[in-house]
Amino acid sequence: MSASQEKPKKTSEAINERVKALLARMTLTEKIGQMCQVDASAGYAPDYLGEDLRAGRIGSVLNVVDVNAVNELQRIAVEESRLGIPLLVGRDVIHGFRTIMPIPLGQAASWNPDLVAEGARVAALEAATAGINWTFAPMIDISRDARWGRIAESLGECVLLASRLAVAMVEGFQSDDPAARGAIAACAKHFAGYGAVESGRDYATTNIPETKLRNVYMRPFNAAVDAGVMSLMTSFSDLNGIPATGNEFLLRQVLRDEWKFDGFVVSDWDSIRQLQIHGLTENDRESAFEAAAAGVDMEMAGDAYNTHLGELVECGRIDINDVDVAVANILRAKFRLGLFESASTDPEALPSIGNDHALETAQQAALQSVVMLKNDNAVLPLCAEKLSSIAIIGPLSDAPYQQLGTWIFDGDTDLSITPMHAIHSLVGHDLNVRYVRAMEHSRSKVNDAFDDAVEIARDSDAAVLFLGEESILSGEAHSRADINLPGDQAELVRRIRETGKPVIAVILAGRPLTLTNIVDQVDAILYAWHPGSMGGPAIADLLFGVESPSGKLPATFPRMVGQIPIYYSQKNSGKPATRDNIVHIDDIDTRAPQTSFGMSAFHLDTHFTPLFAFGHGLSYADFAYENIRVSADQIGLGDTVTISADLVNKGDVAAEEVAQLYIRDLVGNVTRPVRELKGFKRLRLEPGQKITVDFQLHTDDLAFYGRNMQRMTEPGEFHAWVGGSSEAQLRTEFRIAAGDQ
Ligand code: BGC
Repeated sequence: MSASQEKPKKTSEAINERVKALLARMTLTEKIGQMCQVDASAGYAPDYLGEDLRAGRIGSVLNVVDVNAVNELQRIAVEESRLGIPLLVGRDVIHGFRTIMPIPLGQAASWNPDLVAEGARVAALEAATAGINWTFAPMIDISRDARWGRIAESLGECVLLASRLAVAMVEGFQSDDPAARGAIAACAKHFAGYGAVESGRDYATTNIPETKLRNVYMRPFNAAVDAGVMSLMTSFSDLNGIPATGNEFLLRQVLRDEWKFDGFVVSDWDSIRQLQIHGLTENDRESAFEAAAAGVDMEMAGDAYNTHLGELVECGRIDINDVDVAVANILRAKFRLGLFESASTDPEALPSIGNDHALETAQQAALQSVVMLKNDNAVLPLCAEKLSSIAIIGPLSDAPYQQLGTWIFDGDTDLSITPMHAIHSLVGHDLNVRYVRAMEHSRSKVNDAFDDAVEIARDSDAAVLFLGEESILSGEAHSRADINLPGDQAELVRRIRETGKPVIAVILAGRPLTLTNIVDQVDAILYAWHPGSMGGPAIADLLFGVESPSGKLPATFPRMVGQIPIYYSQKNSGKPATRDNIVHIDDIDTRAPQTSFGMSAFHLDTHFTPLFAFGHGLSYADFAYENIRVSADQIGLGDTVTISADLVNKGDVAAEEVAQLYIRDLVGNVTRPVRELKGFKRLRLEPGQKITVDFQLHTDDLAFYGRNMQRMTEPGEFHAWVGGSSEAQLRTEFRIAAGDQ
């Protein structure tokens, strides 16, 4: 058992006694009260909450961010209720509170768990100044569908990357001791499978075979539980016919019996009552029954528990022992957070909002999250000494709010530095910097200003276009069926291209967009996601070579939306496509009709490969991988093997690179993906420097859930690749021998 797995148990020994003692004094109403969370967004609300707080009918509030209001609510709960139980105060602090980090998908592109943890620490500190003690983050739904608006909030498509970053976020929010000043409880969400909603339509149905659920969607949650995450949120979605909020298999069998989770489970917003809308129950009473029976400890923003749970207990349908377990789960969190010692907040005792460290962290996070997708003829970095002018064009050049992205309820737009401003301050005294916004917003179809944009591009040495999506086009309930650049942006690119000047696209977006219609029209692409408060300075530094790009894609970029779901860890199929057995629709010879082409897994009207692969990301350095080797050709179960390769910086600038290890388990009792990421390291290399990158793999790291739903490692042959993306070609092999345990 790892140290992180011991954490929750270590803290709960003494706390369990206090919980037991408190439970013994509670009435049924007070117990059910702990299971109810209410929306307090109206702020200072003793008038409408006071009575319920005094009666012990509320265990938690959400969406109140005025520290005085929070303190007053806590005071009433602690001083004026019979048992004085403090409140959990929840808020969606998803990628920053006032200082905004890149969207989580952007942070995932940094492949830097330490930096991601620091971002969460900054967010926790700022949120804690408002009295918030619980965030509804991290969102760790594996997302393989760029149509889904919530891919922005996710950590991408890959089990290992999402799991490592999930743990980093949990540790950042909660710190080693959740009772410490500035630490808050984390909430891993949405359990489970939400990222697989059909056609990427938010809240839609999911159908996920159990092996896939266990091998993919549940893995980051298992990692978060092992790291001691204090709460989990259920998903809105229907999983294989049983909505997650009423799903006993998820919440009892897996979460409690198998994983031994000792935190608490909260529903999503009103998702208990939605069980009726799903068609699982007839009314709110039955919804309360199903959710409580399945193991939902707390209801968010609904009143099914408040209204019906008491009666369900009294008539014997819900066992009081089950209520006690749920309440104990919640109380344990309150004790761990130290709320019984002090529930009120003194904002002065915490570091100030938007301080230098917060802004520096946001800038580093933005810097490392930007992915350079292409850079023809090394057009980047721009050299301020060699150019005399540049044109800045596009709707996202100077959009302080839009660059923050989705879920920034409390984000402070005044802290945003836009690319336009940052470029001015970096090179404004050396270069003539011209600016035309050209489009009011990313969806505009009015192109009256395109001529002005063309004119400044023509008069300048290079054009930098800030394109993408406004923040409102991604996030919850903001799915898209067409994921091209919206509005007339492709036309703007075409017009600027006609000037013959170098064209650099910087794309700010909440998802992987399909870029096929512009990729050949531009010389370079920096993909900046929604980069947060300090996106501008980070982008300016990258454009002008103060720093080298080092982000790597956390999600595959499709060529066309019809390729979705497309992800690197797909299965091989019985008829895999190769470059030799595909045919394009335009190459079909209609004069000699054929009944079949290729006979492999591809689309006739595109390709089987993505536009940009998972893990891809270029640098101003020139990194080469050489000389892959393995410590042993054959190992036994329980052994560790080391895969190494040399990494050389053949370029003339120092830069960071994310080295990646992929494996393939060639034969399995259920079929295995063609590649799985098994390790990654972010490394800095000086020009000419050569280092050895080592990855240790224990045979447990190669385990998976097979036909009988047991996690195990099978003996057999494995391939391993080391390189700079999921398309790495440098390969070695090893074998796990049978019976060598
Ligand atoms: C979202 C959750 C969020 C909650 C509270 C819901 O609509 O699905 O992710 O935490 O609202 O704001």
